[in-house]
Amino acid sequence: MTHIEIQIPDDWHLHFRDGDMLNETVPATSRCFKRAIVMPNLVPPVTNAKMAEEYSQRILNARPEGSDFEPLMTLYLTNETTSEDIVEAKQVGIVAAKLYPAGATTNSDAAVKSLDALFPIFEEIQKQGMLLLIHGEVTDNHIDIFDREKEFIDRHLTHIVAAFPELKIVFEHITTKDAVEFVLAANDNVAATITPQHLLLNRNDLLVGGVRPHNYCLPVLKRNIHQQALREIVATGNKKFFLGTDSAPHEKGKKESACGCAGCYSAWSAIELYAQVFDELGVLDKLEGFASHYGADFYGLPRNDGTITLVKEDWTIPEQIILPNGNPIVPFFAGKNCTWKLKV
Ligand code: NCD
Ligand code: ZN
Repeated sequence: MTHIEIQIPDDWHLHFRDGDMLNETVPATSRCFKRAIVMPNLVPPVTNAKMAEEYSQRILNARPEGSDFEPLMTLYLTNETTSEDIVEAKQVGIVAAKLYPAGATTNSDAAVKSLDALFPIFEEIQKQGMLLLIHGEVTDNHIDIFDREKEFIDRHLTHIVAAFPELKIVFEHITTKDAVEFVLAANDNVAATITPQHLLLNRNDLLVGGVRPHNYCLPVLKRNIHQQALREIVATGNKKFFLGTDSAPHEKGKKESACGCAGCYSAWSAIELYAQVFDELGVLDKLEGFASHYGADFYGLPRNDGTITLVKEDWTIPEQIILPNGNPIVPFFAGKNCTWKLKV
């Protein structure tokens, strides 16, 4: 196959950041995605309707001329979140609440320390017909970083899913065979997003031949059997698994550091790299469901009108991009070949 046309896709998990960074991140995503679920882990986090509305407006202002890109806003849960916060969020069109265990990832210090205390809030989210998006990792010091997703499933996710069968839950950026099996076995209100990096890479790509800070993200890359499980499940075209890039920009200096930040900035190549993976797997016919149908269906939103075309053509992902503040950022897969290209 030399080209493929798919309905316009959406990105069900990304980080735009704020301020002048939006002039970089919003065009990078809106070049091919119609909508995106915007993660709320700003500093300070987006914890109420007013903050989300203002943030949404800043994103809309950063759209390129003529773009009809639509940000879908989320609320950052803390142990101070009230039922009124959820009701107000629903009223202004916020589609989902995001659960970060405290300390799990970038800007999660203010997040949830006691999960059980949040059950009344989950009840309200369910009642309002909003979705619950979960960063599924425990954060205890004594739990090995490679086991944190599995431990979260066993310790928390199983209970949340059992207690709220009507609540739509997205297990975000899954990285393990255990997560795939959990989502498959769960009811139809449980789905998962999968990033390009977790389909393309495993922990050898992080650690062999030197530490590769630009492949460091959270949840951390796992061993190859887990990467394989993710590739196998997307190849089946199962509707519970859909696209969420987790594009998460950090300046070059913050990644190439003694204590480097977690996150891969993939917006300029994500749709192309997903196409590459589906092509490698011999299932390009499954790309459209994953990228353009299953996420919208799960969120109860209409599928997009219009199409994008990807062509089979080699190109090299840039070594770096200069941000609006003048600082460089190294995009995901920098300097590497990509075998598919968005036709513009
Ligand atoms: C994300 C970020 O930088 O905000 N980082 C990451 O490694 N994925 C946060 C997150 O989604 O965990
Ligand atoms: Zn993320």
